[in-house]
Amino acid sequence: MVQLTLPRNSTIRTGKTWPRPEGAGNIRKFRIYRWNPDDGENPRVDTYFVDLDDCGPMVLDALIWIKSKVDPTLTFRRSCREGICGSCAMNIDGSNTLACIYGMDEVKGDVAIYPLPHMPVVKDLIPDLTHFYAQHASIMPWLETQSNTPQKEWRQSEDDRAKLDGLYECVMCACCSTSCPSYWWNGDRYLGPAALLHAYRWIIDSRDEATGERLDDLHDPFKLYRCHTIMNCAKTCPKGLNPAKAIAEIKKLMVERAL
Ligand code: SF4
Ligand code: SF4
Ligand code: FES
Repeated sequence: MVQLTLPRNSTIRTGKTWPRPEGAGNIRKFRIYRWNPDDGENPRVDTYFVDLDDCGPMVLDALIWIKSKVDPTLTFRRSCREGICGSCAMNIDGSNTLACIYGMDEVKGDVAIYPLPHMPVVKDLIPDLTHFYAQHASIMPWLETQSNTPQKEWRQSEDDRAKLDGLYECVMCACCSTSCPSYWWNGDRYLGPAALLHAYRWIIDSRDEATGERLDDLHDPFKLYRCHTIMNCAKTCPKGLNPAKAIAEIKKLMVERAL
């Protein structure tokens, strides 16, 4: 369980308690972080009651139910509703995860929902991922080649393709990076588990011809070496990936290269 820390928006106060749905017998209580950059108020936690007999089983279903039936101002990101787009990442019951694939029945008691921790907040449950995406772009997340482009495709053996398993599935949700203490304190310079997992994905791609350049770029006291193998990233990844292992593999390659 990743410890809950608050998003970077000062003191949180108790907010509004919204009315219970009339006539509903199967109700679940939600406590949800709210912050509106336009009202000049401190963040607050609002309380909502969801009619479970009228709502799907996932936490995202409850958020959509609240938005459409109770409070249209509640703001969150979502798109695919099946764990593919990565946009509904948030902190639920103290863990970073994807709301669309996280069942309400996995939470005991009230469901507490906050934005991903230690990120600036745009509004309510929406973190500002500008820096996170810039870090991803900085590792050159594409195939780099100097050879002539083949007529049909860049070929790869089955064994080499298998090396990308456990890496290509990343949906860039940022659950791992925002659960990483090293990223909390040094996120300006430490790339964090998500960007480093992607860096490794391209480093070990047999078709890529910029491996040396990629390793040179990561050979930096902050970009790579702030990982202290705390493993929060692997514990929290909603796709079951292990960024810490990918980071360890990059460090191993660095050592092998230095020998
Ligand atoms: S293993 Fe490294 S990247 Fe993962 S949470 Fe720990 S310090 Fe962060
Ligand atoms: S490694 Fe997992 S937690 Fe991190 S960004 Fe990718 S899918 Fe999300
Ligand atoms: S809505 Fe796409 S991952 Fe949740």
